[in-house]
Amino acid sequence: MDEATEEEARTYERDGFLVIPSFLSEGECFALMDRAKRLVDSFEVPSRDRASVFSTNEQTRTSDDYFLASGSRVSFFFEEEAWDQGTLRHDKSISINKIGHALHELDEVFAPFSKSTRLRDITRSVAGMKTPELVQSMYIFKNPLIGGDVSCHQDASFLITTPPSVVGLWFALEDATIENGCMWALPGGHRGPLRKRFSRAPEGDARGTVMTTLDETPLPAPMPSEPWIPLEAKRGTMIVLHGLLPHWSSSNRSTRSRHAYALHFVDGEAAWAADNWIAR
Ligand code: FE2
Repeated sequence: MDEATEEEARTYERDGFLVIPSFLSEGECFALMDRAKRLVDSFEVPSRDRASVFSTNEQTRTSDDYFLASGSRVSFFFEEEAWDQGTLRHDKSISINKIGHALHELDEVFAPFSKSTRLRDITRSVAGMKTPELVQSMYIFKNPLIGGDVSCHQDASFLITTPPSVVGLWFALEDATIENGCMWALPGGHRGPLRKRFSRAPEGDARGTVMTTLDETPLPAPMPSEPWIPLEAKRGTMIVLHGLLPHWSSSNRSTRSRHAYALHFVDGEAAWAADNWIAR
């Protein structure tokens, strides 16, 4: 490992995240954004009662069949504020919260990008993964004016392994700023325990999915001030996120979108829980 990489690995170990500016070229960012635009263009808006909405509250995250099936599909989730009764308030191009969760498997543009050895190598060299396995992908729009907030969470709650092994790679495809809803993180917070566990409900349980509290250790209230720090990121920046790092983002009330692409890896050496919401 070269010296720069060792330094990056130390920073990641200390903080629970690593920000790497200019990891992607502008061209790479535009290619992913262009592909997402084309996917939305060809997406037919369903009637309100059939549309899936991404809830800002992880605890009440949509648990319908559409959400559960999205682990192996390219599915579209609307912003909570996108709808006015039965109709969209704005054009569909600015009404989608995210596309997920199998772009990395199924999409002709996102799959080759997501599976590149360059990304896998980062999970090894920076985050110390032994056998990185890519299990989830999301294109996040955080659209102007209606882009929803994401409550404080640890990514490892949603992809359960023993021991926890999730590593996220988050790519800023546009500048992420405090104004348009960048992520906020708690430096060093990854050394705390996993607080919650999101899983499929047992057979016969009508809820579909359940959130279970594992550990009551409190976290500082999510506030745009210390000890939280804003992960502002210029277009092309990659942020490596430890699965136990508490983070959140606020809504976007600005007039500028904040497109990002996120990938989640787990370590093949860790045991995958059978009741994970994503089937493997
Ligand atoms: Fe997250």
